[in-house]
Amino acid sequence: EKGNYRHYMQKEIFEQPTVVAQTLSSYIRPLEQQVALPQMDFDLADVKRITIVACGTSFYAGLVAKYWFEQFARVPVDIDVASEFRYRDPVLEAGGLALFISQSGETADTLAALRHAKAEGQKIAVVVNVPTSSMAREADLLLPTHAGPEIGVASTKAFTCQLAVLAAFAANLAVKKGRMTRAEEQEVVQHLTEAPAALNAALAHDDDIAAMAHLIAPARDVLYLGRGPDFPLALEGALKLKEISYIHAEGYASGEMKHGPIALIDEAVPVIVIAPSGPLFEKTVSNMHEVMARGGKVVLISDADGIAEAGEGCMATIEMPKVHPLIAPLVYAVPVQLLAYHVACAKGTDVDQPRNLAKSVTVE
Ligand code: M6R
Repeated sequence: EKGNYRHYMQKEIFEQPTVVAQTLSSYIRPLEQQVALPQMDFDLADVKRITIVACGTSFYAGLVAKYWFEQFARVPVDIDVASEFRYRDPVLEAGGLALFISQSGETADTLAALRHAKAEGQKIAVVVNVPTSSMAREADLLLPTHAGPEIGVASTKAFTCQLAVLAAFAANLAVKKGRMTRAEEQEVVQHLTEAPAALNAALAHDDDIAAMAHLIAPARDVLYLGRGPDFPLALEGALKLKEISYIHAEGYASGEMKHGPIALIDEAVPVIVIAPSGPLFEKTVSNMHEVMARGGKVVLISDADGIAEAGEGCMATIEMPKVHPLIAPLVYAVPVQLLAYHVACAKGTDVDQPRNLAKSVTVE
């Protein structure tokens, strides 16, 4: 079943160009250059607020989507991890859409949160990878990902497929709300269509990343930094590293460094900076320099322009293709997954079955 791969996780990382393309094909009409959603019995134009609820990696996909829903559709978004949402008595007003994201569609806290939101009169949308799951059955709007079975406990291909669906959803909502022109919609379709090739280009750096795993493997703590829609990637990178390599890792918004975590920086703490070139790049580079000035060892993940501008003095760089900011979170997911994977292999941990973890968390 694993074919030529050593682990399911590795196989699933490499499946991403194919499964993201498969997923996008259900949400894009290539001839019309339009985004399209399945039929629903309510009007998206009436949605006044979105509440996103999920756990773990699916929650981080939701964090990225918050940027998109607000930027494209100008619809306010609340987001919570399911275990907090279900017990905090959230205010759920009429006209609200509650959006649940889950690979399995069975995560106990997310399912309980869904039922709570439904009882409170919210419309229920779900992004799930298992179309026969409880969440899929209980939704008003089912948005499947077509990642195929995900066996590795560490979620990889489900995440990028979730992002693909959420980007299409945000664009469709923006169209329905009159916030996105036809030309802008065509551009979104164009960028999303470029994602599979960009994922392939990112995967081509597998060997470089494998070769630098020994720089991270001895660390006790690792920090991940990102900004804007790439900030959740820092959280995702840290989660991946913790769960399969057992190295303590934290993700931070780059701008938060000086509010505490910079106190941790010394030669022994690698800092992974996720920073595609673009409007926010300069700001992240200055945070990176603050790290370097304190002896921190930086791994910069950026494109050729970013590396040319700021690669000097880094312990290592990982070059990504230059992509539109919309698809950057999908593309930059690849190097953080591969880095965690190779560090775990270097440490000899059980990549597909990490200790203390289950693939699907069906108890609270
Ligand atoms: O099936 P779900 O997407 O609802 O699962 C949510 C989390 O349990 C899951 O993403 C978990 O954090 C993964 N092990 C992350 O790699």
